[in-house]
Amino acid sequence: MKAKKIIIAIDGYSSTGKSSFAKAIARELGYIYVDTGAMYRAVTWYAMQQRLIYTDGTVNSDVLIKQLPLINIDFRFNADKGVSDTYVNGENVEQKIRNIKVSQYVSRISAIPQVREEMVRQQQLMGKNKGLVMDGRDIGTVVFPNAELKLFMTADPKVRAMRRYNELTAKGEKVTPKEIEQNIIQRDYEDSNRITSPLRKADDAIELDNSNMTQEKQMEWFRKLIENDSKIF
Ligand code: DC
Repeated sequence: MKAKKIIIAIDGYSSTGKSSFAKAIARELGYIYVDTGAMYRAVTWYAMQQRLIYTDGTVNSDVLIKQLPLINIDFRFNADKGVSDTYVNGENVEQKIRNIKVSQYVSRISAIPQVREEMVRQQQLMGKNKGLVMDGRDIGTVVFPNAELKLFMTADPKVRAMRRYNELTAKGEKVTPKEIEQNIIQRDYEDSNRITSPLRKADDAIELDNSNMTQEKQMEWFRKLIENDSKIF
């Protein structure tokens, strides 16, 4: 483990394997991993539960904003899986927040400035002791603009759709590859074009296109990167 603790910010498009990569890095360095997408998904799940998202996709954002202080999101280590699960007000929602319905609404919820403000506030608190790998869409640009290391991940949309499709069908969800691809393209569009902190690569982020890379190859790339750049640690 490196002596100096830093913040590693990982941003990028949907389903580029940010979470898997971030988790592997955190494991290797003995760092905490925070999945900020799970936080926006948790708020979306809560809004769906409270019927604040209507069938035409519009959101009762006034009520949701008022209820933000009532949404308590936390991560608890699941020893069986060796990873953390997401909880909302004490309920384990890890599976529920990954379904396609939540994926369809999450970009809308995460575009609400007050939702972002609250999530960013919580995320910045989590990073105050450093030793953290955080992934999302605005980590290197907004949450930790001074992060010591910023990575930006991309991959071919077809490769991404196939990865997500395999993941969801393995969990028993009934989805089609086309549906997943459309969702990925739509979310990339909405995330990149929203007014408040849109998804974009920070000027000082290092880009990684992992279309043709296994997880092991990505870790090899990462190890080389930190060995060769003495300024990082
Ligand atoms: O990483 P993910 O696919 O689980 O994220 C779900 C959505 O949450 C994504 O489409 C956009 C939003 N998000 C965001 O706006 N900002 C973040 N830091 C993380 C996620």
